Amino acid sequence: MHIVPIPSRIIYYDGNVGQNAVITKEIITDASLGEEGYIIRTSLNSITLCAQTDAGLFYAEKTLEQLRLYSSIPCMEIKDSPAFSYRGFMLDSARHMQSVDEIKKLVDAAALFKFNTMHWHLSDDQGYRIESKKFPLLNEKGSWRESDNFGSMHTGVRYGGYYTHEEISEIVSYCKERFIDVVPEIDLPGHTTAIISAYPHLSCRKEQIPVQTKQGIFEDVLCVSSEETLEFVYALLDEVMPLFPSERFHIGGDEVKFNRWKECPECREKLKKLGKDNYAALQSDFTAKLISYLKSKGKKPTVWNESLAGGDIDRDTTVQMWLDGKKHSVRHANRAGKVIVSDFYHYYCDYPYHMTPLEKTYNFNPILKGIAPVMSKNVIGVEAPLWTEYICDFDKLCYMFFPRFAAVAEVGWSSREKLDCRSFERRFNAVTPLLEKRGIKPAPPSHWNPTLPERLIGTIGFFKDKISISALTNSFNSQIS
Ligand code: ACM
Ligand code: ZN
Repeated sequence: MHIVPIPSRIIYYDGNVGQNAVITKEIITDASLGEEGYIIRTSLNSITLCAQTDAGLFYAEKTLEQLRLYSSIPCMEIKDSPAFSYRGFMLDSARHMQSVDEIKKLVDAAALFKFNTMHWHLSDDQGYRIESKKFPLLNEKGSWRESDNFGSMHTGVRYGGYYTHEEISEIVSYCKERFIDVVPEIDLPGHTTAIISAYPHLSCRKEQIPVQTKQGIFEDVLCVSSEETLEFVYALLDEVMPLFPSERFHIGGDEVKFNRWKECPECREKLKKLGKDNYAALQSDFTAKLISYLKSKGKKPTVWNESLAGGDIDRDTTVQMWLDGKKHSVRHANRAGKVIVSDFYHYYCDYPYHMTPLEKTYNFNPILKGIAPVMSKNVIGVEAPLWTEYICDFDKLCYMFFPRFAAVAEVGWSSREKLDCRSFERRFNAVTPLLEKRGIKPAPPSHWNPTLPERLIGTIGFFKDKISISALTNSFNSQIS
């Protein structure tokens, strides 16, 4: 049977399930199933789904949905449970928004492949996307940009909007029914042009700047040494937290440029007070305060790996590894901190198949090199990010995400010894009708694994058209500094 993700164990018996088989669901006690595992037993006249939890029963139903694609289901027993507790995708709604209906389609696909987290990137240089009743300028100014000037695209048309509290609540409820946690991300203290455009006094120069219309990494970041900034951020977190019941809260921390801090008397003074000479320490100090604040509100803080550049952080913080030449994430895992793996070279689904073929995504082992075997359990899972600077329509989004989205889901759920990319490709093709039924059209199989010459030509073409080389160099430099 073609099932994605591939189950831990299937035993087949003689015969097929009859047309009038009775379906029953049962909560059982079986510690080997854990929080999310399940058993499906089929016989000539019955289909029984068993699990310790409602989530487990839900995943059994998702497997059954795939089995139903066949004209007959064999008599069998499936016993299945996940390899990792965190399995997610990231949606960037800051650069380009998706409609509530489109997001629901993605959530359906996530549920089908047993993802349990939607990381929702809602604030960046190009827009702030959450309705704010406390800080109305975040929407009046920070949610709008004058144009899309991403790569070679120049629309000249004002773009923007935000999700109302009702829309957020609708998405959160839709996810909850599917056992998917919605983890919001407010990226801080960098990637904050939209926030600064609304409230310039939060930046070092305190100058009015427009919401960015281009991709890149920008100089204007929050002035992390000002009490006013901290008070604002706490108040913002207080407004956003109640919208998202998830324990986890993401405060970003990637790609922060230090130039404004170096020019700012307050920031220079603060660095001196900290007794440090590397401006990464200022970021650490600011992030540590936000981490304490989130913890005091019962949240599990999550940050991108650059947040560790200024030194170790609170062990209760989860680090999301994406591009980490210095292996800060490995160090965090080895100190018993939790790590989510979203490796740039393998899991970034906004990069073309020429650069990141399906098999490269699929075959990547998220247990990062350098993590001590006894600490490998600190890698709590995997996440497939999709950034949307160049992705402004849903068909393109689906083309980029699928099948790599499902590949990361399988790595997150299935045990490593079960993984086989060719088998995955066959199984993914078999379940594609379930995606198409939901309005999701994956990339055609001929695009998944380009040949080496195709990869070279396609990758050069992508960088020529889409990416400003300076932005990319900045990104890599920020990893090295
Ligand atoms: C990132 O891709 N800047 C986390
Ligand atoms: Zn400053």
